[in-house]
Amino acid sequence: MKLHKTLLTAAAIALGASAYAQTTNELVVQTNKIGAEIQPTMYGLFFEDINYAADGGLYAELIKNRSFDFPQNYMGWRIFGNVKLMNDGPFDQNPHYVRLSNAGHAHKHTGVENEGFFGIGVKKGEEYRFSVWARGENQKISVQLVKNNTMEEGQAFVSQEITVNSKEWKQYEVVLTSPRTEAKAHLRIFLETPGTVDLEHISLFPVDTWKGHKNGLRKDLAQALYDTKPGVFRFPGGCIVEGTDLDTRYDWKKSVGPVENRPLNENRWHYTFKHRFFPDYFQSYGLGFYEYFLLSEEMNAEPLPILSCGLACQFQNTDQDAHVAVCDLDSYIQDAIDLIEFANGDITTTWGKVRAEMGHPEPFNMKFIGIGNEQWGEEYPERLKPFVDALRKAHPEILIVGSSGPDSEGAQFDYLWPEMKKLKADLVDEHFYRPESWFLSQGSRYDNYDRKGPKVFAGEYACHGAGKKYNHYNAALLEAAFMTGLERNADIVHMATYAPLFAHVEGWQWRPDMIWFDNLNSVLTCSYYVQQLYGHNRGTNVVPLTMDKKAVSGQEGQNGLFASAVWDSNDNCYIVKVVNTSATAQPVSINFAGLKKNQKLANGECILLTSDNPDLENTIENPFAITPQESKVNIEGNVLNVDIAPNTFAIYKFTKENSK
Ligand code: AHR
Repeated sequence: MKLHKTLLTAAAIALGASAYAQTTNELVVQTNKIGAEIQPTMYGLFFEDINYAADGGLYAELIKNRSFDFPQNYMGWRIFGNVKLMNDGPFDQNPHYVRLSNAGHAHKHTGVENEGFFGIGVKKGEEYRFSVWARGENQKISVQLVKNNTMEEGQAFVSQEITVNSKEWKQYEVVLTSPRTEAKAHLRIFLETPGTVDLEHISLFPVDTWKGHKNGLRKDLAQALYDTKPGVFRFPGGCIVEGTDLDTRYDWKKSVGPVENRPLNENRWHYTFKHRFFPDYFQSYGLGFYEYFLLSEEMNAEPLPILSCGLACQFQNTDQDAHVAVCDLDSYIQDAIDLIEFANGDITTTWGKVRAEMGHPEPFNMKFIGIGNEQWGEEYPERLKPFVDALRKAHPEILIVGSSGPDSEGAQFDYLWPEMKKLKADLVDEHFYRPESWFLSQGSRYDNYDRKGPKVFAGEYACHGAGKKYNHYNAALLEAAFMTGLERNADIVHMATYAPLFAHVEGWQWRPDMIWFDNLNSVLTCSYYVQQLYGHNRGTNVVPLTMDKKAVSGQEGQNGLFASAVWDSNDNCYIVKVVNTSATAQPVSINFAGLKKNQKLANGECILLTSDNPDLENTIENPFAITPQESKVNIEGNVLNVDIAPNTFAIYKFTKENSK
């Protein structure tokens, strides 16, 4: 984790203690009462292809509509000269391709030009792998990166030739090194010889992808995910799991196997909001279930795939006929069972073999599956039941995640939780995109949850401000405050994932989001840093922490303070998180009670996320406006006295040492 070291010293922090005529808030950590285990899955990530998060984002492909199979076949392309659209190509699920022929005159040109996703971003000195499936007899094509709106002599700033000389379809490849940085280049292909050439699956990837994989991920974005130390990775959505209709639900079986033959799917976020309409937003499935499992593994996160339960999006479909009848769910249930085989099965099994052929003979060790996203009404449990019955029988080792609907409380929520208990779901997914007032009021949300039922998965949550404020500092601060309650209740809360992950600055549909990006840059929001700080300071066990014998959860009389404490048995340290949501500095004493005489605290560290401007946000233009600041802290005896500045998320860490 990149933390910005400051010269902040414990003395400087402690100095203020006398500066405020306020009563000290006395927090007590019961160091000798090591409590519930904190699951390794506790803090994780939720990925959905929304806001161009996959195609045009994390998925590093730079060409839009690379196989000419969008419903408008030339969307994203400009064609010139003698170009014909064909539909008997080598990949049956993506049958279209283009035939380029002589333009009829030596001075005329034939070719195609792709605009990428909001342009094609390339960086000076970086290599880009162009590939194409082609056939033709001794035909030359030139492949160029161009800038159209330029006063320069030539538009192309890098160019390479390929000779296509195969009667059968064959893949050709060339690497272009960009001599400069351009955010909005185009890819242009000219036919250079007087014959005919067929082109299919025209692709351009940076060579330097995450972990160097072909068909890989944009490195800065994947690295940002990795840097949070996620314990769980939920994919592929969200509402795209359900689809606007069943035909357009996310079908994992179509997202695996050779990338050229993964069929196109609609992306509902292309049209869900008419005021944020993106007619060129589709799912290529290039980032499919294999890639999601691989990324989970490479991030050391448990994969959590979510599958359709047979209900198309209930926001968009009130008609019962839009859904699969309960008696017709067999193929959906089989999809779930086959997915477990794809992830975990031996390479001799049908789906294990597919995984092995894709390059991963070892199992992915999937442990969790979610059935349904935001579902509600009787129609959900009646569909979930046959899934649960079949999965328990075939795979009792897999933990099942059910849904509590789209709301954090209310009639559907109150109906669904008992239903999930009856069905013995292992975890229940809760979603809450809520305003600041809600987050402030929820510090003790989980304190009184039933400890005997399913565990909680806070699967999608984010805070927003009044007056259309998103990703501003105050939202992140209140998320940090709320998360102390998740942590204190880690016996019942086993997973939590902020949402959504990514947004292209030119193509978003939904705010807030954890990471914003354009074609060249990415920016980590304050909410990202909150997630990262929790991920890095998860600990292994909850330790009781109280103020006046009560949980510190922003309750009446607690001066806007929220807090939690954990023990980390790997690093032998205590970690206390305190969030001061009030507008005044709070003098706080943290008493590490219960240490034995021969035990002392050492190696004190403090990490602060703070700002005096609650509306400030990190942006592409000003990406480091707010970042965590790290410093050393001294403690005398077992009590740390600090002033916590207004609107501050503070973390204090001390190792426990035994003196001889
Ligand atoms: O994250 C955006 C959407 O919010 C998700 O698709 C859905 O699950 C929730 O309503």
